Amino acid sequence: MYRIDRLANRSEGSLEPITSPMFKISLPSPGQDRARNILSQDIPKICSWVKTRKALRMVSGDNGDCLTPNILQKWLENSLENLVLIEIGSDQPIGFCTISISEIECLPAGCVELCHLIIDPKKRRAFSIGKRLCRAVKEKASTFGFSYIVGRVVPWNGYAKVLAEREGFTEIKDLPLWAPDAFHWYNYDLGIVSN
Ligand SMILES: CC(C)(COP(=O)(O)OP(=O)(O)OC[C@H]1O[C@@H](n2cnc3c(N)ncnc32)[C@H](O)[C@@H]1OP(=O)(O)O)[C@@H](O)C(=O)NCCC(=O)NCCS
Repeated sequence: MYRIDRLANRSEGSLEPITSPMFKISLPSPGQDRARNILSQDIPKICSWVKTRKALRMVSGDNGDCLTPNILQKWLENSLENLVLIEIGSDQPIGFCTISISEIECLPAGCVELCHLIIDPKKRRAFSIGKRLCRAVKEKASTFGFSYIVGRVVPWNGYAKVLAEREGFTEIKDLPLWAPDAFHWYNYDLGIVSN
């Protein structure tokens, strides 16, 4: 039986502009990027973010030495929706993910999976793009009427685990049957009561 922790910590960090102590630069405010669906012109850019077998294993179960347009196409076909975060000014993609109910068999009703979250390696960590995309996913999943977002992380992906926890996802400790135990699984309660 799938147990949902309704007491999940929903607190979210601020997305106000912050100054990186290391680089001493001002970071963009929340209004300086926007999410939209993928366009064909985004495909080479997004593929260029995943250049090794290890990097591909972090974001999918696909075999290969890098992300290819064919693999990306398959992700899109398996998704309900995709989100590309666009940097205002350069108008370039800086983050990508999908939401899906078919990447995993027997996902419980009301759940949607956050999949293939990838940030442009040049923009990682300093700009809170991962957090921003997670928030865009929460909005989208709410709009679709889902009650929960789940996500899986390979055990050796420490940054993704921290991001999940920072965004109020709770680790699912007693894994339900549908959740392959090769991953750490996280759950976010959208607070929507289904009829
Ligand atoms: C994991 C990933 C999505 C994080 O995105 P990001 O935009 O770099 O992360 P954010 O800037 O939003 O940071 C979110 C939190 O993660 C942690 N974190 C992320 N990168 C980190 C790093 N290099 N070092 C230390 N902490 C890090 C921080 O705690 C940060 O919160 P804080 O700033 O409040 O301390 C990004 O590194 C990435 O694309 N990795 C490769 C693909 C991947 O692993 N996808 C996830 C699959 S489940």
